[in-house]
Amino acid sequence: MQMHDTIESLRRALQSVRQCGQRIVFVPTMGNLHDGHIALMRQARAHGDCVVASIFVNRLQFRPGEDFDKYPRTLAADCEKLVAANVDHLFAPPEHELYPTPQRYVVEPPPEHADILEGAFRPGHFRGVATVVMKLFHIVEPHAALFGKKDYQQYLVLSTMVREFALPIEIIPGETVRAQDGLALSSRNGYLSPEERREAPRLYRTLLAVAEAVRTGDHRYAHLESEAMAQLSAHGWQPDYIAIRRRSDLHPPSKTDEPLIVLGAARLGTTRLIDNLEI
Ligand code: PAJ
Repeated sequence: MQMHDTIESLRRALQSVRQCGQRIVFVPTMGNLHDGHIALMRQARAHGDCVVASIFVNRLQFRPGEDFDKYPRTLAADCEKLVAANVDHLFAPPEHELYPTPQRYVVEPPPEHADILEGAFRPGHFRGVATVVMKLFHIVEPHAALFGKKDYQQYLVLSTMVREFALPIEIIPGETVRAQDGLALSSRNGYLSPEERREAPRLYRTLLAVAEAVRTGDHRYAHLESEAMAQLSAHGWQPDYIAIRRRSDLHPPSKTDEPLIVLGAARLGTTRLIDNLEI
C-alpha cells in the first residue's frame, strides 16, 4: 500500500493509475478502522481495480463540545488493517494539508435533508460532511465511492449531492456490519464502559421490535416511536429520536406501500450511538 500525506503525492500516483485505464474506487473514513470499514474496502475491491482509502478526522463536521479532540486516532493499527484488506493507496493528510486556510467555500445541503434527524441534533454536521467529501472527490477523482448504510442520512445527503452536481461518480452503499449481539460497529463504541457495552445492543433490539411491528401491519407510527423511546429511557438511555421514515428522502411516510426505514439515535452515558434498519 502506498501512503500519501499530501494532495500532490496522491494526485501524481493516481494520474498513472488512470492512464492505465484502471477504475478507481474510493472509501473515505475518519480512521480507527473496524470491520464495518474493512467490509467497505473489500466491497470496493470487487467494484474496481484500484482501491483508495482516506483517513481524515474532519473538524468541519463536529460541533463545539462534540468529540473532535478525543476522536480516536490510531493510524499505525489502521494501516495494518488496510494492508491486510489489500487497499492500494491511503490518503491520510494532516489538517493543514486539507485546510491550509479556513474553508470559507462550503457545500450547503438542502435543509429538508440536512436539518432533520441527525441534522436537528447536530446543526451544520452535514454541511461539514458534504464539504469535505466534495473536496476529497476533487482530489481523488474516483469512478466510484462507497458509503455505509449505518450512516443512512449521510448516504442520502452524499448520493443526492453527487446527482445534483452531476459528478461522474457512482455511489455504492454498504450494508451495516454488527457485532454478534447486534450492536452496529462504530468507532464511538470504544467510549463505552464494559457495563454500557452490555447495554448498548438494546438500541438495535428496539429498532428490530419497531420494524417487526410495522411489518406485521401496525401503522401507528407515532405510538411505536414514543413507546420505543420510553423503552430506552427506562433503561437509562437518553434518546434523541426513534423515527419511522420513508427510505427515499427520510421524511414521514405518506402512504402505506412505500419502502420504510426506522432510525434511532440515543445517548448511553456520554456516548451517542446511532443505528437504523430498513423495514
Ligand atoms: P466514518 O465514521 O469513519 O465512516 C466511514 C465509512 O464507514 C462511512 O461510509 C460509514 O457509513 C461506514 N461505516 C461506519 N460504521 C459502519 C458499519 N458498522 N457498517 C458498515 N459501514 C460502516 O462517515 C464518516 O467517517 C465521515 O463522515 C466521512 C464520510 C469520512 C466524512 O468525513
